[in-house]
Formats: sequence, C-alpha cells, structure tokens
Amino acid sequence: MSNLKSSRIEGLHKMPPEARLRAVAQQADLKEEYVDVLSAAASGQITLADRLVENAISSMAIPIGIATNMIVDGQEMLVPMATEESSVIAAVCNSAKRCRSTGGFKTSTSGPIMAAQIQLVGATDPENVRLKVLERFDEIKEICDTVDPLLLKFGGGFRDLDIRVIDTAEGPMTIVHIIVDTRDAMGANAVNSMAEALAPRLEEWTKARSILRILTNLADRRVVRARAVWLLDEIGGEQVRDDMLSAYYFADADPYRAATHNKGIMNGVSAVVLATGNDTRAIEAGAHAYTARDGWYRSMSRWEKDADGNLVGILEMPMAVGLIGGATKIHPTAQANLNILGVKTADALARIIVSVGLAQNFGAMRALATTGIQKGHMALHAQNVALMVGATGPEIDQVANELKSIGKVRQDIAEEILARIRSEK
Ligand code: MEV
Repeated sequence: MSNLKSSRIEGLHKMPPEARLRAVAQQADLKEEYVDVLSAAASGQITLADRLVENAISSMAIPIGIATNMIVDGQEMLVPMATEESSVIAAVCNSAKRCRSTGGFKTSTSGPIMAAQIQLVGATDPENVRLKVLERFDEIKEICDTVDPLLLKFGGGFRDLDIRVIDTAEGPMTIVHIIVDTRDAMGANAVNSMAEALAPRLEEWTKARSILRILTNLADRRVVRARAVWLLDEIGGEQVRDDMLSAYYFADADPYRAATHNKGIMNGVSAVVLATGNDTRAIEAGAHAYTARDGWYRSMSRWEKDADGNLVGILEMPMAVGLIGGATKIHPTAQANLNILGVKTADALARIIVSVGLAQNFGAMRALATTGIQKGHMALHAQNVALMVGATGPEIDQVANELKSIGKVRQDIAEEILARIRSEK
C-alpha cells in the first residue's frame, strides 16, 4: 500500500507543470531519481501535454517503428506504428512481404458515417414517440446542420434518422440515432453537439424526457474492409495453410480463443491509430462490439482458401478515425507520422489501418500454426529481460544471447548470467 496521507492537492490544476510535478513528488514522497525521470521524459512535450490533459506532469514515450512492404490498393506504403510490444512490427513487415506477389491489400469502405444516440424515456407510448420524431425529419436535418456549418461546407452533415424502441429493465425506451456524414473528422464532437442541440426539441415534440446524448462507438456505418491473398508457397505449403484455417475456425467458435486472436489484430490496428493521434479506445470498443453483433463473440477476421488453394484473409471492422480535430491535428508526432503515410483523407488512413490489422492476424496465425509464438517473441524479449535485471552496454547482448541459447528467457536466470559475467570480468 502507498504511504500517501491524502490524495488532495489544493490547486494542482492551476500550477505550471514543473510545479505540479514538485507538488506530486512531495505528496507521494517520490525519490529524486524518479522526479528526474519524469522531468526528462517531459522534455519538449510538456506544453503540449498540458494542453491535451488535466494535471499534466510529464509524458510517456512509446516506440514508433515502421512497417515496410505494405501495398494498399496498389499504393506502396510505409506505415508508422506506435507500440511497446516486441514482434508486432516485425510480424506486419513479414506478412506484408508474403502477399506482395498477389498485389497486397485491397480495400473498400462504407463511407465516413457516424451516429449519435438520444435516449428518450418516460413516455407511455414509445412507438408513438418514434413516429412523432420521424415526422420532424426536415426540421431535425436543419437543426443538426446548423450546428456545424464547416462540416456542411466540406460536404458532410446530417444524413438520416434511425429510431429504435428497445426493451430495458426499466421498460421500453425510444432511442433516436442521428446519422451524420463526418467527412475527415472522427466525428465525435460534431455528432455529440448535434445530439445536444436536438434533444430539447425532441422533448418538446414528444413530451418524453431525454437523458443521454452521445455518439455510439459501434460505428457500423463506417465499416472498412481489407482482403489479401497469400500464395501457398508464401505460406509454407498446404499443411501450414490448413493449420492456419483450423486456427481461424477455432477462434471463430470459441470466445476464449477469439479474445486473443482479436487482440493480435488490435496489436496492429491500435498501433497505427495511436501513431496518428487517433482514439485507440473508440476503435477498440467499436471493433469488439461489431464482432459480437450477431449476439456472440467471434473472430474479427474471416479466412478461406480460394480455388487455387491459396489463403484468403478478410477483415471488416468499424474504423472511425479522423485527420482533423483532437490530438491528430495538434500532436506534432502524429502530424509527422501522417506525413510518412502521405494520406490526405481519413478514408485512406482507415483503409491502411484495417490492412495492417489483417497482416498482423496472418503473422500471428502463421507463427502459432508453425513454430509457436515464443521463438520470435522471446528473441526480442530476451533483450528486455536483460535490461530489466540491470545489464548495460555489451552486457545486454551477452545476457540476451545466453538466455536465447538455453531457450529460457527468465528474469531469475538472467540475474544469474549477469552476476556470472560480472564476476568473470
Ligand atoms: C500477442 O500480443 C498476440 C497473439 O497472442 C495473437 C494471437 O494469439 O493470435 C500472438
């Protein structure tokens, strides 16, 4: 347990970040070396951190690596990925290389359509409420479009209504979905503002009471699809292909396996989402909810063999990312990464992200169906374990190599190896 006497720090949010760090360090009785770590990590980024979040004291660097070999819709791509996990980027490079011979990834999309929900309660006639709202379609369109004239200027704006009466433990509720084309924005701000502007008018028209007014992350009208074909030779033959298909059927039938299979897909997806300053939680929530849309949790991807026996992978998922608004626009690292990608629209970015997810899934399934995941993973992990036990300079490689050669990447063994190396000096 921490020795903290109180979690209250008077006026913390008003202090400049350096003073804030001091105040936190004092309250938490933090060693000076940790203050130095946080202070150094903040270097150059603290003004930005202070602008992005409350009570900022530092920032945390996540490695950015480049996925090579990607071809998306005929276009060569270098894809920045932000992840702390070993093997993730290497797996994408490898999987993308193996499908270059068939042209890489082909994508399609349903367009940048987002929805916000307005919860209407307290009516004895929820179906009647539904109809009353639908009758106001034109007025609703006008209210929503007035909220964001800029969006309208860029060709976006209100598109449609979808109204559902749902059964809840509290009785039926009428849920109004406003459907909006958000163009190059992720769209949360636009649709939330529209929902908040519209709710009082809905109350007036229907006599129901509105409670929540918020976007849904189940962005099932903003779906992106990627597919790719891997030739038998690139996979390693029929047995590997069949075992990969078996791995897919396993994931599709068993939620315990699906969770891990899909986590692998999200390793790739979230890394590009983060590198471009987009909201990883929004994408993750949408992806998992979309996967369970039939009432059970299954594989996000689909795999089959084509008439020539090659392996075909398909990934279809909501991809609500933007190029404007939020950290995407104001985080210089996100801007730099978007420049590496060279994308000009949110749509283009979304297509790349889903392609990376598919590549990641191929890599994980192939590794799991053949040598297993530990071999590749542990080679990189060995370096981390060496660092964890305090190896420095050439000791890092020495400890890591020895761990790999005995095939056991464990902290206790790394400590013994390091102690031996040092005693031999
Ligand atoms: C590890 O981060 C991801 C995998 O577990 C994915 C999978 O099991 O498919 C390797």
